[in-house]
Amino acid sequence: MKQDALFQAAKEAAALGYTPYSRFPVGAAILMKNGTIIQGANIENSSFGLTVCAERNALFRAHLEGYRSKDMIAMAVFGHTHDPISPCGACRQVMKELLDSQTPVYLLSESLQTKAMTVETLLPYAFDGSALPK
Ligand code: THU
Repeated sequence: MKQDALFQAAKEAAALGYTPYSRFPVGAAILMKNGTIIQGANIENSSFGLTVCAERNALFRAHLEGYRSKDMIAMAVFGHTHDPISPCGACRQVMKELLDSQTPVYLLSESLQTKAMTVETLLPYAFDGSALPK
């Protein structure tokens, strides 16, 4: 089942990151309509504010590989957490930009307990480009 592969890819992605400071590895994965799965992990920096989360790395990587929101079936995010991981506000805003509002975003705990969300439920009344001058 594709969803199992997506969840497994998110879990495995956590091991691909660089987390010497927090020791809190996070993994993300996006399933494409063509069956491809793009992974991301958090990459930290000694200048802490330069850290980039797993979700954003996966979304940026997907974009750079040529994938757009219409090509994406679902995203999953994995953390070694008791409850399903909660994406930070910055990542929710980037999801808003690069994913369709109704695309499923599955939040996973260490035991793969799953919370199914969408961009809309993760970030209601979001700011987006429609507010900007033409
Ligand atoms: N982090 C993520 O990658 N995604 C999340 O959803 C939560 C936080 C990272 C950022 C940092 O490397 C570490 O987790 C601790 O905040």
